[in-house]
Amino acid sequence: MSAKKGRILTGHRPTGPRHIGHLMGTLETWARLQDTYECFFLVADLHVLTTDYEHPQRVRENTLGIVLDWLAAGIDPDRSTLVLQSAVPAHTQLDTLLGMLVTVSRLNRVPTYKEQVKELHLQPSLGLLAYPVLQAADILVYKANTVPVGEDQLPHIELTREVARRFNQLYGETFPEPDGLLSSTPRLPGTDNRTMHTSYGNAIFLRDTPEETARKVMSMYTDPTRIHANDPGHVEGNPLFAYLDAFNPNQAEVDELKARYRSGTVGDVEVKRRLAVVLNEYLAPIRRRREQLAARPDYLVDILRTGTTRAREQAGKTLAEVQERMGLATNLIQSIPQTGGRGPATSEYQPEQLLYVP
Ligand code: TRP
Repeated sequence: MSAKKGRILTGHRPTGPRHIGHLMGTLETWARLQDTYECFFLVADLHVLTTDYEHPQRVRENTLGIVLDWLAAGIDPDRSTLVLQSAVPAHTQLDTLLGMLVTVSRLNRVPTYKEQVKELHLQPSLGLLAYPVLQAADILVYKANTVPVGEDQLPHIELTREVARRFNQLYGETFPEPDGLLSSTPRLPGTDNRTMHTSYGNAIFLRDTPEETARKVMSMYTDPTRIHANDPGHVEGNPLFAYLDAFNPNQAEVDELKARYRSGTVGDVEVKRRLAVVLNEYLAPIRRRREQLAARPDYLVDILRTGTTRAREQAGKTLAEVQERMGLATNLIQSIPQTGGRGPATSEYQPEQLLYVP
């Protein structure tokens, strides 16, 4: 591990099944980065609650669901650490402490926050406003120096850097200023050519069957200017060809299809049939792995438990250091374990519910 380039912390909110946009844009990059970095992959379940606190059943289902999709896509629990955010109390403890160093007006200017308030027409909660502070805590609690994210997340990384800098100035060098790492893979459009999104009905999911996948492909948006199969067609901005570029390893075949499409010698239906085959071939090994894992929910829980335990150790150390530097006497009286165990079960608490696998 020490021979590696540095430490990565990144993650997703468990908002639903992962789709082929996540696979190409994110998960394959993460899987590759495991070779060169020590990686922590965070299931950001607390962040889900900043908007979706009314649907606990959904959060519960999506939590193990996302672990399943990640592992199927090549996240390797033997080399990387999978962390359940809500089970590492140091995240929220550090969140509270870093919150002292961030002004409300700074948080009001975060673009993701402004956009969400506008688009979702919601009365922002304290939790939503403080979203990026918790994210900064996620990253800094492991002293990660690299954070692979989508472009929309860069303002959160910027805020993380500011907090780290401010902390270091006030209390002495503690945190590295982490860098965002953008994926070079072009974004895959949805089947309707809008942004691919779990809730737009335009996504192809890793968990879809080959038949569902083929059906989605056959109904894909193509070139709206093309009425007959022998009209010359447009390849640019046509999601059929964005997908073929991404999933067909045979570039010569793709080039030939493009040429025939432009000259009006191949119909949409033929291209779609070919794409359905190519896409299903690409996804086959991922789906096979996914099915095998889905049959072993206890194993998934184990992976998450093992990773989270390892994460607690790391995070606990950083938290102790931060408490000390900020003048808190926490560690002086530290006979109380920091790990925040489960505690006595309440009457309605049923841990088996966590074993749900979609
Ligand atoms: N905000 C991220 C997203 O919506 C998820 C996330 C939470 C995250 N904590 C993080 C990403 C820390 C990178 C680092 O995608």
